[in-house]
This record gives sequence, C-alpha cells and structure tokens, in this order.
Amino acid sequence: MAAQFHWNPATYLEEIRAEVPRFDELQRAAIEAIPFAPERVLELGMGTGETTRVLLESYPDAWVTGLDSSPEMVFRLRQEYDGVMLARMEDPLPDGPWDLVIAVLSIHHLTDEQKRVLFRRVREQARALVIGDVVESERQVTPIHPEHDYPDTPEQLAEWCGGEVTWRADDLAVVRATYA
Ligand SMILES: C[S@@+](CC[C@H](N)C(=O)[O-])C[C@H]1O[C@@H](n2cnc3c(N)ncnc32)[C@H](O)[C@@H]1O
Repeated sequence: MAAQFHWNPATYLEEIRAEVPRFDELQRAAIEAIPFAPERVLELGMGTGETTRVLLESYPDAWVTGLDSSPEMVFRLRQEYDGVMLARMEDPLPDGPWDLVIAVLSIHHLTDEQKRVLFRRVREQARALVIGDVVESERQVTPIHPEHDYPDTPEQLAEWCGGEVTWRADDLAVVRATYA
C-alpha cells in the first residue's frame, strides 16, 4: 500500500505554493478543462478546498461532495462545506452518478495499479473526469518523495482514463476524459 503523507491544513497553502509555483495556474487550467456545467461533482483529495473554491467561482450551482484521507483536512473542510467524507481514493467511490469527478494534486499519491482501478470506477459512475497533477517531466520543479509520490506522464494518465491532455506547463498537466 502507498505510504500516506499528511499536510498541516494551517500551513498547506503557503507550503504547496512554494513547492508548486504554478499552483494557481494549475487550478485554473483544471477548471477550464471541465467540459460542461456540472451539477453533481465528486472531488478526490479535497485538501483545504482550494480546487473546490475555484470550481465554485465558475460553477456556483454545482453540488460538491468531497473526500480526503486526512482527518485533519476533513475536520477543517467540514467547517466550510457539507458533504465531506473521510475516505480513500483507493476504496470504492461514494455512490454516483456524478457529472464530474475532479482530482487536483491528489492522484499522484496512488500507485499505477491503484490509478487504473480508480479510473475504471470513475468511468462506471461519471460523465467526465478532470485530473490536474504533477507529472513526469524533463523539467521537474515539484519535489517528488518516492515513498508517497508516483507521477506518470500525462500521456500515460490520458491513456489509462481514456482522455486527452488539455494543458501542460513544466511538470504539471491537466487531463480530461468525457464519457457521456
Ligand atoms: C496536495 S493536496 C490537494 C488538495 C486540493 N485539490 C488542492 O489542489 O489544493 C492532496 C490531498 O489529497 C489527500 N490524499 C492523499 N492521498 C489520498 C488518498 N489515497 N485518498 C484520499 N485523499 C488523499 C491529502 O490528504 C491532501 O489533502
């Protein structure tokens, strides 16, 4: 099983912006990749809700259900959002159907086999998937911790989920799949 790293919600934003200098660009590119106005959204690895916040700016009527495996993050999220679950992406997803499953900076914590299983589960329940993440690149900007980070190339992610690469910059990319 992949080792788990727990961020401190109080310092998360400052630290992630230092590790991922194009963090805000990545969030915007992920939201721009959403193929239609979603109503029912499932977010995987919600963190402190940064992706959620940007998504709701563009789609204020979306109903976001989120999960995260970190009790600290979930405690913090529940002060702001309903529908946040303490759960792992490796386990069966909360029951859909979902218009959109979105995961920003979280999928790379799964092993390749876990990603493939997740993508199969998403495809059974969702009309679209958007991934924004750290990927393998010649110019690796974001520190990679081999014990809990497993980035792939964007092309590999796109092949596994049946999608396409919509944006890339340095070692970040957005992949979108539309299923219906
Ligand atoms: C880097 S944060 C990204 C949060 C948010 N999407 C953003 O872009 O700011 C990744 C989140 O994924 C969560 N996470 C890591 N592995 C996970 C897993 N296996 N299942 C569910 N959540 C996980 C972490 O606890 C963390 O809150």
